[in-house]
Amino acid sequence: MKALVLSGGKGTRLRPITNSFAKQLIPVANKPILFYVLEDIAAAGIKDVGIVVGETKNLIKEAVGSGKRWGINVTYIEQDAPLGLAHAVKIAEPFIGDEPFIMYLGDNLLKGGIKSFVDEYGNKREDIVILLTEVDHPEQFGVAVLDDRGKIKGLVEKPARFISNKALVGIYIFNQKIFPAVNSIKPSWRGELEITDAIQQVIDQGGRVEPFVIKGWWKDTGKKEDVLEANRLILEDLQPLNRGEVDSRSRVSGRVNIGRGTHIKNSVIEGPVIIDNNCLIEDSYLGPYTSIGEGVQIINSEVEQSIVMEKTIIIDITVRIANSLVGRDTRIKSRQGRPGIHELLLGDQSSLELYE
Ligand code: G1P
Repeated sequence: MKALVLSGGKGTRLRPITNSFAKQLIPVANKPILFYVLEDIAAAGIKDVGIVVGETKNLIKEAVGSGKRWGINVTYIEQDAPLGLAHAVKIAEPFIGDEPFIMYLGDNLLKGGIKSFVDEYGNKREDIVILLTEVDHPEQFGVAVLDDRGKIKGLVEKPARFISNKALVGIYIFNQKIFPAVNSIKPSWRGELEITDAIQQVIDQGGRVEPFVIKGWWKDTGKKEDVLEANRLILEDLQPLNRGEVDSRSRVSGRVNIGRGTHIKNSVIEGPVIIDNNCLIEDSYLGPYTSIGEGVQIINSEVEQSIVMEKTIIIDITVRIANSLVGRDTRIKSRQGRPGIHELLLGDQSSLELYE
């Protein structure tokens, strides 16, 4: 079995972070989302992995390389434009050849990985296996309608009216029957070749499509709230470890993971919190579900339920920063003295909510 990872999307809902960065590389608990995907694939024993890349191809290639780190061989497949998941399958056909394959969206996170799923279904005779999970907002996903026996009756992408709360998770197993389907469907209202339509076509032509309802959590990290929720879910399983230095005036409680060369001075850290290497946390408070990237400095400030990416500096922000996703190399600083103004240099499509 091969694997196909989709990392071509633009991540428009995560701007401005994605103006200069690939959404699949956004760190969750200080590790890019895409790395969790590749770890899952490697743990399932799959060696040949195709990664579909788009505009951010150089960033993805630089971060992932040959795949040697995970014991996999990565082939990059270039997609000219993000024309849909079924389009990605279409252009991947030469790479896939005549093997079955698992398709995994590069911005999806699945508790427990895919090994049990691949082991159970990988060698059976289904043409397609889809993963399903119950969601609160089915209109944001592709959904499956099941009959009384749990068999699939039909699939609809982003249903306008409620028909089912079982959403398609962005992980699928296909055999070669998917190729004629992706080659014959037409673009949807959003101008994309929808994988949901291609799977429906395989069903219509009598193919065997099986659902697999997952038990653990799954997250599609398309929006800030989802990235922060994924961060919270991963940090639930954080292993405490201190490779840095915590001075005697600081108090660290709960599960806290501190990297090499990091100094915690006169601060309070309430886990779960992960702090990468070479950070300085001084006269500050870090609250639960916070991930601090490499080389970050937080001085005389309070942060919780947030992701702060590498090299960012936060100084004298005493109204607590919460529910925030802060990009790389950013400065957030309180301005002293008069005039009492906010001085900003924000990228396109930034979002700033100030407490006054
Ligand atoms: C895509 C699929 C949808 C699926 C979702 C899972 O949606 O089209 O069927 O439920 O991924 O993440 P998109 O992220 O393109 O809106």
